[in-house]
Amino acid sequence: MSGPAAAATPAVEAERTLIDRLWPDPAADLDDEALLATYAFPADRPWLRMNFISSLDGAATRQGRSGFLGDDADRRVFDLLRREADAVLVAAGTVRTEGYGAMRLDAAAIAWREAHGLPAQPVFVLVSRSLDLDPDASVFTRAPMRPIVVTVDEAPADRRATLTAVADVVTAGAGSVDPARLRAELASRGLQRVHAEGGPTLFGSFLAGGGVDELCLTLAPALEAGDAVRIAHSAVAAPTEMRLSSVLRAGSELLLRYVRDRSAAV
Ligand SMILES: NC(=O)c1ccc[n+]([C@@H]2O[C@H](COP(=O)([O-])OP(=O)(O)OC[C@H]3O[C@@H](n4cnc5c(N)ncnc54)[C@H](OP(=O)(O)O)[C@@H]3O)[C@@H](O)[C@H]2O)c1
Repeated sequence: MSGPAAAATPAVEAERTLIDRLWPDPAADLDDEALLATYAFPADRPWLRMNFISSLDGAATRQGRSGFLGDDADRRVFDLLRREADAVLVAAGTVRTEGYGAMRLDAAAIAWREAHGLPAQPVFVLVSRSLDLDPDASVFTRAPMRPIVVTVDEAPADRRATLTAVADVVTAGAGSVDPARLRAELASRGLQRVHAEGGPTLFGSFLAGGGVDELCLTLAPALEAGDAVRIAHSAVAAPTEMRLSSVLRAGSELLLRYVRDRSAAV
């Protein structure tokens, strides 16, 4: 689904695209509670969800940004998916390209979270090997919860020291962040429900590491051609079977939820 810059657009009730559930349990014009129920995390185990948007021909970006592919329905679901999470995970390339600022959920989301026994805001988690992240950026300085930066053994020591002033910096791999180690680290902090917003390098490396439980994929009704990246890439292929969990439709756009099929032999 599209990135945070586009997500800032307020939804105008009268103009917004209705979202219907096609499968399972068909239902028209889902309200926020019905959408949240459709995307509920499993109650009893740690879970890592990836959330992406793609054009019909597999482009993950338009003019270099995912936000230009999304519409108001995609942005509505994008925001709601953050609401249920303990942690929102984003890799450094996406933070830099999409211009992430501090992640702050709105008043309705805070009220919902508190009513469900959650802290007002999820924790923002960044993944970076190089630690090429500006400690003066608002993603750190205006964060409502102290962010976590997950990096590797070989990360530059000086950047690690600088970022420690504005975030918890933890190591979860030698040359690449290992999703199992990242998940264990977050779970040790009580952050079990992890909602990841990309990008493609992170997704590819986490697929290779067997660390993804779910994909929420918006299929934007557009063809892009060009040389845009796909939603996942890695040096080595990582076949991963998925099982359909739900299908929503907003106009000509599909919002698909797939969960990892752990019974499938690949
Ligand atoms: N269609 C969508 O839904 C969607 C979603 C997100 C992003 N995007 C698009 O994707 C593009 C960015 O692609 P990208 O592949 O560069 O994004 P990315 O995966 O967000 O960023 C790659 C960077 O993240 C860090 N990283 C990722 N996985 C790592 C791992 N396992 N271990 C250590 N570090 C890791 C590294 O950061 P360092 O360089 O700091 O070491 C790496 O260079 C942008 O155009 C963005 O708009 C699209």
